[in-house]
Amino acid sequence: MKGIILAGGTGSRLYPMTKVISKQLMPIYDKPMIYYSLAILMLAKVREILVITTAQDQNAFQDLLKDGSQWGIHIQYMVQMRPEGIAQALILGQDFIKNDSVALILGDNIFYGHSMSAILSQAASIADKGAVVFGYWVKDPEQYGVIKFNNEGDVVDIIEKPVNPPSSYAVTGLYFYDSTASEKSKQLKPSARGELEITDLNKLYLNQKKLFVHKLGRGVAWLDTGTPESLLKASNFIQVIEERQGLKIACLEEIAYKLNYISYAQFENLAVHYSKSSYGNYLCSLLKVNMNQ
Ligand code: TTP
Repeated sequence: MKGIILAGGTGSRLYPMTKVISKQLMPIYDKPMIYYSLAILMLAKVREILVITTAQDQNAFQDLLKDGSQWGIHIQYMVQMRPEGIAQALILGQDFIKNDSVALILGDNIFYGHSMSAILSQAASIADKGAVVFGYWVKDPEQYGVIKFNNEGDVVDIIEKPVNPPSSYAVTGLYFYDSTASEKSKQLKPSARGELEITDLNKLYLNQKKLFVHKLGRGVAWLDTGTPESLLKASNFIQVIEERQGLKIACLEEIAYKLNYISYAQFENLAVHYSKSSYGNYLCSLLKVNMNQ
């Protein structure tokens, strides 16, 4: 399975913060925002990853994430010239995806919670049968693609930003697709706002009875980071959990080491490199404990 992080867009709701720095490079407490989506792909055991950014920001992402070998993964980069829709990522990434299935995640989405790794593994294991998306109960569904269920609980429609939401379940920014996603995306027509809508792609799968919706329970946090308030709240959330547990969320070195993608010596090198920060102190502390406990 391949992975794509879509990290373009304008971030206009965060202006002037995002005038010269990409939203997905903004800090969420102690690490750049994109670490959280990259961690999700790594936990889904995806090792071939394409990061799609604006032309202006590509160098900064490359400087930060490099080729991924430091974490035992492989990262390539591509530019989206204009924010012409989330589904465009699958067209841009067609040669990268080839005949594989693909996990697509938005670079500003944060997922955290119980059994997340198991949920991701399960989704990845059935992705070659169609599409897997996640439904999450939110108080403001009208901001999102919203799932309509019939009385039996089957998914019958997904409606983009409905004025009268048919349920409280929003579709999150993490999607798993079979190898037909790029071809299907090419069939889409731009919406009224000029975007290739991911909701339209998901509806193509739904019409073919190949859309699987996994409801994330309330024990999982799906955080928004699009406005100054939600950015601050996401940072506070991460800080509270990390402080309480003494464990870090989305620590890529830790994930790579636990998945056996890097050796103890490689992990040690990375830890020493960051040793002056709290992030580095955390890595150094892991060197002393048995991480498999
Ligand atoms: P949005 O939050 O809809 O847009 P944005 O990030 O540009 O922010 P704003 O509304 O403040 O201008 O996008 C959600 C995510 O998807 C975000 O990570 C950017 C990304 N995205 C792209 O990279 N390309 C696109 O064409 C679109 C529509 C979104």
